[in-house]
Amino acid sequence: MQILDRLIVILGTGGTIAGTAQSASDGVGYTAAQLRVEDLLAAVPALSGQRLEAHQVAQLDSKDMDFATWQRLANAVQQQLARPEVDGVVITHGTDTLEETAYFLHRVLAPTKPVVLTAAMRPATALAPDGPQNLFDAVQVAATPGAAGVVVTFAGRVHDAVQVRKTHSYRVDAFESADGAIVARVEEGAVRLLSGWPTGGALGLARIVRPAARWPRVEIVMNHAGADGAIVRALLTSGVDGLIAAGTGNGTLSAGLDAALREAQAVGVKVCRSTRCDAGPVMALPGLLPSAGALSPVKARVELILALLGDD
Ligand code: SIN
Repeated sequence: MQILDRLIVILGTGGTIAGTAQSASDGVGYTAAQLRVEDLLAAVPALSGQRLEAHQVAQLDSKDMDFATWQRLANAVQQQLARPEVDGVVITHGTDTLEETAYFLHRVLAPTKPVVLTAAMRPATALAPDGPQNLFDAVQVAATPGAAGVVVTFAGRVHDAVQVRKTHSYRVDAFESADGAIVARVEEGAVRLLSGWPTGGALGLARIVRPAARWPRVEIVMNHAGADGAIVRALLTSGVDGLIAAGTGNGTLSAGLDAALREAQAVGVKVCRSTRCDAGPVMALPGLLPSAGALSPVKARVELILALLGDD
């Protein structure tokens, strides 16, 4: 089958890629999530020959991403992937929590067809918006024979959901894979595979049926100069099910924060150590609180939420 004949479903969720500003020269004073996914496609004439279907699943600034939207999105993706005629799914998203959504979908669905998240750093009204190129590239990745798994296509690179992180607040090339290994590059519409497509075991949609309002509460606390654990005790008072410690370096914690986290663990709160460093794993060592391995704090949080949902 030709790439153009492959049916790709685009699911819109908002973000800067769908954002608009009053003036074309305004790259920061814009409102995210204004244009519908059909409008985004209309801005990419190069996609006119591709078999596409578009659906709006949400319309939000991804800083406001929530569990109910994640549930709806995971169900919508699964529904599309189950259609034999659908070859892949593209999700347009905001950049701010894109890595969390990507990791969530990876763990819940681990799809055998490609699910490609993309986004933009500049609003659709910018002088030189990056969204149309990213959307075009994402469709090429989704239509690539043999592609699979949840990936992020951004600024000409394809990242896997486990490694990818937003590492820059403003630059158009805002994402990196934590240890440098990317899945592929997209060059003039051609996908050049550099490693294997991501695989993994799916937890399944049954894991996330609990009403979103009753999902476990998992918070992230950071180690820093003067961290004394008071924040952990405040969270214990207000009620928390899990805590991710964004430790220093190899997940190290101040004596005060470590003591408070052990108090939390002693009363049944699940505790895990990640690192506030931009890359690198946290080694598991005897006598220390459990390690999140190579997961960043936000992804370790997703992992712990899903683990606690599995305790139902
Ligand atoms: C958002 O995350 O929805 C806004 C910021 C962005 O997409 O770059």
